[in-house]
Amino acid sequence: MTKLITGGTGYVGSELARLLVEQGEKVVLFDITINLFRIADIANECKILQGDLSNYSQVMNAVNENGVTEIYHLGSMLTNASDLNPWGSFQTNVIGTYNVLEAARIFNVEKMMFTSTFGTFGLLLDEVLTDVSIQRPITFYGCGKLYCEGLGRYYSRKFGLDFRSIRYAQMIGPGVRTQGHWAPAMIEDAITGKVNECIYAYPETAISMIYMRDAARAAHMVLQVPRDNIKMMNYNVAGIPDFVTAAELEAALGNRYENTKVIYKPDASLEEIGNDFRTLKRFDDSYARDEWGWYPEYDSVDRIIEAFEKDIGAYPERYGI
Ligand SMILES: NC(=O)c1ccc[n+]([C@@H]2O[C@H](COP(=O)([O-])OP(=O)(O)OC[C@H]3O[C@@H](n4cnc5c(N)ncnc54)[C@H](O)[C@@H]3O)[C@@H](O)[C@H]2O)c1
Repeated sequence: MTKLITGGTGYVGSELARLLVEQGEKVVLFDITINLFRIADIANECKILQGDLSNYSQVMNAVNENGVTEIYHLGSMLTNASDLNPWGSFQTNVIGTYNVLEAARIFNVEKMMFTSTFGTFGLLLDEVLTDVSIQRPITFYGCGKLYCEGLGRYYSRKFGLDFRSIRYAQMIGPGVRTQGHWAPAMIEDAITGKVNECIYAYPETAISMIYMRDAARAAHMVLQVPRDNIKMMNYNVAGIPDFVTAAELEAALGNRYENTKVIYKPDASLEEIGNDFRTLKRFDDSYARDEWGWYPEYDSVDRIIEAFEKDIGAYPERYGI
């Protein structure tokens, strides 16, 4: 029973690897860039493969030579990298996912999960986004992920592959510096007593957030549920479904750390690729809650801030603080 994590030394992938290793699972990590600092504590307990998702043979070999029974497909280029290099993103995110699905089909992998994104929704967003809201992505990243959500459904229907996928809104955790993500730096600066220069948000910009450990837990949990429970197949998953504005986060930080100071200098170009969410209210994950019992452990702003404080204190190297 070997579990393969693509993007296994990425942010969420490494947290998921830790969770699986703690459960005594046999884990293979596949990544194009091996971020050893993220997995230093478990590196000896995993098999680490350097490989490229867009390389069909490398993906096939990773699955076949390791007797993989479950795949957690997290490897991906994110929003801004995909916008800068849409050609690379097509190879990694679209062809790469097709390669993983083909490997799962050819080598009879028992089940597979895939991480998609809130960015599949895109244009003319409703205030509340549910699993049946219309998805009209406006980014290359969102278009690719939406195609792959559908591709997984197809492999399930056509070839009987046990496929599930989850969509995060914004994954946050210490050390996350994904372009466009403003909350992690704001929290860290408040904790470490620095002034935060917020270039990715207006005070009223809002996000639905999920703490990194909950993101990894959701990736694991969705694959443990009996297949009969899985009806929707592609699920929104939130830590805090209600959108939290930058000003609200700043206020919560101010209640805890009296020297909190945020200077907003939003970069207007970010709005072009859909980073400016000022009208959204809720990222509704009720299908995940109903069908597979999803619940977040970090379900309030205060719990997330506390978790940052603890993780920064305990693992500064792992999170590059
Ligand atoms: N971070 C977020 O806020 C967020 C939101 C929604 C969805 N997601 C999805 O969650 C998953 C995990 O994201 P993350 O935040 O851990 O990102 P991350 O960038 O930390 O991890 C992605 C990993 O994929 C690897 N990768 C990239 N191209 C590859 C290739 N060609 N071959 C093999 N590996 C490759 C990277 O090296 C990296 O380690 C991704 O699928 C992402 O699209 C993330």
